Amino acid sequence: MSATLPPVLDACCGGESFYFARGHVLTVDAHPRSATLCDGRVFRCEPDVVADFRDLPFPDGAFAHVVFDPPHLLRGRGWQAEKYGLLPSDWEPYLARGFAECWRVLAPLGTLVFKWSDVQLPLSEVRRAFPAEPLYGNRRPRSSKTHWVVFVKEES
Ligand SMILES: C[S@@+](CC[C@H](N)C(=O)[O-])C[C@H]1O[C@@H](n2cnc3c(N)ncnc32)[C@H](O)[C@@H]1O
Repeated sequence: MSATLPPVLDACCGGESFYFARGHVLTVDAHPRSATLCDGRVFRCEPDVVADFRDLPFPDGAFAHVVFDPPHLLRGRGWQAEKYGLLPSDWEPYLARGFAECWRVLAPLGTLVFKWSDVQLPLSEVRRAFPAEPLYGNRRPRSSKTHWVVFVKEES
């Protein structure tokens, strides 16, 4: 891996649908794919690096910012499963390992943003997999059910 990494890591980029701009980001996903969705649009997941977020091929502290938007569904079919992927039934160690890797590659004082939609698993359960206490986030999203949770890594 090159010594000149961009400052931002997206640890499971999927279709990169939430970007306003796409500079300075290194994208990772374990499952590159493309598919035509039911509305005819083509979905593409084309990461810069194909890797598992539980075993990231980057040195400790390599990124100033990490975004972690893992699959949030345990059950599903069709376009949702295609776009977002599914969690394994033993989701807790799976997410905990992903969090631990995101935390390892995050620089001291760096920020980690975790996106979570609690349609099947509430954030209160997923918290058990967190690598540290988050600093802030939208604690009670109403209609969207989507949390954005921000962590800042301590200096030491
Ligand atoms: C919720 S989607 C990401 C959506 C994305 N942020 C967007 O804006 O479209 C979760 C992604 O995690 C990927 N994924 C699932 N398990 C993974 C793993 N172990 N390592 C890396 N990526 C994984 C899936 O392939 C899927 O693309």
